[in-house]
Amino acid sequence: MTAKFTARAPAKINLTLHVTGQRDDGYHLLDSLVVFAEDCADALSFTPDERLSIAVTGPFADGIPTDDRNLIWKAAQAAGWTGTIHLEKNLPHGGGLGGGSSDAGAALRAFGHPDQTAALSLGADVPVCLLGRAARMTGIGERVAPAALPDGLWAVLVNPGIPLPTPHVFARVTRKTNPPMTPAPATTDLAGWLDWLRSQRNDLEAAAIQLNPSIQDVLSAIKATDHIELARMSGSGSTCFGLYTDKTHAEAACATLRRGRPDWWCELTAIR
Ligand code: C5P
Repeated sequence: MTAKFTARAPAKINLTLHVTGQRDDGYHLLDSLVVFAEDCADALSFTPDERLSIAVTGPFADGIPTDDRNLIWKAAQAAGWTGTIHLEKNLPHGGGLGGGSSDAGAALRAFGHPDQTAALSLGADVPVCLLGRAARMTGIGERVAPAALPDGLWAVLVNPGIPLPTPHVFARVTRKTNPPMTPAPATTDLAGWLDWLRSQRNDLEAAAIQLNPSIQDVLSAIKATDHIELARMSGSGSTCFGLYTDKTHAEAACATLRRGRPDWWCELTAIR
């Protein structure tokens, strides 16, 4: 029997999310710049044994399945791994941060089973989470190309505590065919790169706000912080992010948001 090992499943953040079409099976074609949070993650540990089991603790443990409905369980089955898995659930679920997908991607990495086909069978977001670093994601999520990111970007993640089921948000999107991302400029020109990012979109934002108007409050609160570069929703929501180019500014913004809305989940992180 081998020893216990651990993995981190960082929050996934969609800096852009363009809906460019829809397949006959209903899945949407996407063009998305995906990044990962350095400082904001679920923590997993794995102790090999004969039987598979999952235990969940942490601030967002409530409601997380501990059987084959959990994507980590499915990842273990795909890798042919058995043992006891402990998941410390630090990320809000139903939050646009890819919690379950990131857990599955981290588990596949930890099992030494970096199989993109297995990843895609677990969910459209799992291939990019298996890579676990900045990437452009296209198709329904199966095409993942590593992307460069400028240095020195800080994000504040804000979740208003109302989970939003992804299929409901996609179903509300009226225009399914939208332009893809335009080409990104060199990452060495931070101001130019941020101008480009501001000109891109999250095509799920309007639909998500219709379903959960508190997302608009979150975006307004982030936009009102000092030195904000960009406020946008991640994934299908309801988590939104603010971007800052200075850690001190991001820390101050996070503190302001927490003071203003102690009921919201607000976290500061570097992104990669
Ligand atoms: O693949 P996953 O199970 O994460 O997707 C959840 C739901 O989100 C799908 O059932 C589908 O309704 C929607 N979805 C989509 N197009 C994508 C990804 C997800 O329509 N590219």
